[in-house]
Amino acid sequence: MDKIVIEGGEPLRGEIAVSGAKNAALPLICACLLAPGPHVLENVPDLRDTRTMLALLEALGAAWQRDGATLIIDTANLHGFEASYELVKTMRASVLVLGPLLARMGRARVSLPGGCAIGARPINFHLQGFQQLGVSHQLDQGYVDASVDGRMTGATICFDIPSVTATENILMGAVLARGETVIKNAAREPEIGNLVDMLNGMGARIKGRGSDTLAIEGVGRLRPARIRIVPDRIETGTFLIAVGATGGEVTLTNCDPALLPSLYAKLGAAGVAVREEADRLHVSRRGPLRAVDIKTMPFPGFPTDLQAQMMALMCLSNGLSLITETIFENRFMHVAELHRMGADIRIDGHSAIVSGTGKLRGAKVMATDLRASASLVIAGLAAEGVTEISRVYHLDRGYDDLVGKLRRVGAQIYRAAE
Ligand code: EPZ
Repeated sequence: MDKIVIEGGEPLRGEIAVSGAKNAALPLICACLLAPGPHVLENVPDLRDTRTMLALLEALGAAWQRDGATLIIDTANLHGFEASYELVKTMRASVLVLGPLLARMGRARVSLPGGCAIGARPINFHLQGFQQLGVSHQLDQGYVDASVDGRMTGATICFDIPSVTATENILMGAVLARGETVIKNAAREPEIGNLVDMLNGMGARIKGRGSDTLAIEGVGRLRPARIRIVPDRIETGTFLIAVGATGGEVTLTNCDPALLPSLYAKLGAAGVAVREEADRLHVSRRGPLRAVDIKTMPFPGFPTDLQAQMMALMCLSNGLSLITETIFENRFMHVAELHRMGADIRIDGHSAIVSGTGKLRGAKVMATDLRASASLVIAGLAAEGVTEISRVYHLDRGYDDLVGKLRRVGAQIYRAAE
């Protein structure tokens, strides 16, 4: 296993090109299962998770090749419908093959994802939705064994919580169903808009893009897609926060400022200046950091995937910050590691109270999950002295060449064998 070593204190200066969004690439790769023939996906990040999803599609009979950031995926010869525990336990997003496999083959056998660091993460909304579309399923040795005779039948589905992947899964099942499906209380994350664009480009009939109500008129068949993955708003936010932590001035390119409506005001209040242009963002911080309160919410609220990164930033302010995590029940794993760097943080249920000390000290810390790892990188970039982060495979799941991108803007950071 590798570790990351950081000599903190260097302000970041220069330009970084943001990669395509992990949380768009994963559902869009699955959507290629809906129709045979070569699909072309552009701006696809090269991540551990995208490689895992491609391995899953390969196990089902798909063929793919990568040319830089462009993926060509052919699913003409599918011969299986099982997503194995070995693959699913490493990436819960594998559950996204349920909808496409049921729509294409009428059958899917997908391992239950099992827990993960940030919470139990059940898939009951997914299964209830498919049940309403006429799918029957049973649990068998840790697998969901699902089937439907012929085509699914459209229905009106209302989610208790606007679940991102449940919305995506039902969307991908409904596009080939008989009749109309309406999804109410749908999630509105921009990655879902990217999926809607891909499906409509394949011949689907989906209305309500970007709203909490999606209406899908089922069609008989779909054609191959050509789609560009949206920029990764979480990677974008991670870099904006990193510059806030180290000071300096950076331009982010290949990004979409409209995808982070709730972050800029927060960063501005904290003393981090962000200037938006068409496909780039200019970020700088010169003066002291100020404490701000954060409450994670579904899009367009503050993203839970940036909570850990903001907590690292708040440790460097000189005030009290209240950070409330409303989406997942266990997403404060980074707190114990930040404590090792001198942070003063108290957890009370779903909230953490950060008493900013204005500085952090380098230490040996351990990554526990994807975004907690990013939080520790940010802390290390700003800390006095050397920080060593172990178990960086967590980071590799969702960031494409993070170390290389940071080195190119002056960070003293490198990977080494642990
Ligand atoms: C997606 O996960 C993202 N992953 C997560 O990003 C992100 O944190 C999350 O949405 C929230 O924005 C992908 O898109 C691949 P949810 P997802 O279903 O869909 C509960 C990252 O770091 N729930 O929107 O799994 C659930 O437990 C990852 O990139 C049920 O109870 O999240 C949670 O409390 C982490 N039953 C809430 O809903 C269900 O059937 C929202 O979860 C489904 C969800």
